Amino acid sequence: MVTTKIRVAAWAMLIAQGGIILSGGIVRLTGSGLGCTDWPKCTPDSLVTTPEMGIHGLIEFGNRTLAVALAILGVIILLLLWKSRKQRPDLFWLNLGLLAIVPVQAIVGGITVWTKLNPWVVAGHFVPSAIAVGVAAYFVRRTYDTGVRTGDKAPSPLPALGWIILALTAIVVLFGVLTTGAGPHSGSTMSTRNGLDNVWITRAHAFPVWLLIIATITSLVIARKKHNVMVKPLIVLLIIELAQGLIGYIQYFTGVPIVLVAFHMIGLSATIAASVAVLDSAYPRSTHANTDHAVPVVR
Ligand code: HEM
Repeated sequence: MVTTKIRVAAWAMLIAQGGIILSGGIVRLTGSGLGCTDWPKCTPDSLVTTPEMGIHGLIEFGNRTLAVALAILGVIILLLLWKSRKQRPDLFWLNLGLLAIVPVQAIVGGITVWTKLNPWVVAGHFVPSAIAVGVAAYFVRRTYDTGVRTGDKAPSPLPALGWIILALTAIVVLFGVLTTGAGPHSGSTMSTRNGLDNVWITRAHAFPVWLLIIATITSLVIARKKHNVMVKPLIVLLIIELAQGLIGYIQYFTGVPIVLVAFHMIGLSATIAASVAVLDSAYPRSTHANTDHAVPVVR
């Protein structure tokens, strides 16, 4: 039985995962990447930031504090799910997986500081968070059903298109991270860039966005024709893609102003979550506890 508390907590987890991506972005965009010069302590002598570290120290330490808040949220959800862990092992394990990403990210974050924000390490620091947003979106969706597959599937080729949409989203995100690594916002004046050609890597990032939009529109047309439940998540995804694409082009042609990049970072989490929702909607789950023909799903 999924209580409202669990559902709200799942949404809080999704928002917090997106929030940590945004806060990491703010660290980078404000040049606060080495605001704490050390890890796990902020400075060799202090666990927390000190007045001498100034605003950059506050911003970088704020990001570290958010990671702790995320872990606390994960533990709270674990406690909320404890009683129902036998009925809903899927929710329990999904949350545990999200919780496990936090220490991994903390360590990669530490390596990021130790390597003076090496752009490849920064990219590696971003990827687990992007995955966590996807898992958190899946987690939220599971709180609206029993987790048990109805045995139905969206009509062909919609499930395949759902997988293509998710794969294209992953490609766009990966090339986005490389675009950032080639761009001006390194996070510190002491850091190097990845050496990729800025124009070409941005093109490589934007091209699959067009494929993603085409795949989404194609899916939407088919889903509408077949009156399938995928219509709604597809419309949401398309709106997000168009807004995110527009922000992407404007920020590119205006020299990546930090406010627009920050919006682009909110949009990327929204794109990942919406892509997961689209694919998930191709495999409906029962909303009633005892469904005939229900097929338990282990993923
Ligand atoms: C669905 C659409 C899109 C998604 C999901 C997306 C996602 C991303 C991601 C994940 C990053 C890396 C963020 C980081 O490392 O902090 C990024 C950066 C970037 N994106 Fe996109 N993007 C999209 C569309 C576009 C488009 C159409 C353009 C147009 C050229 C664009 C231009 C850029 C630029 C210039 C950066 C680097 C920003 C910087 O230097 O800080 N994006 N994007």
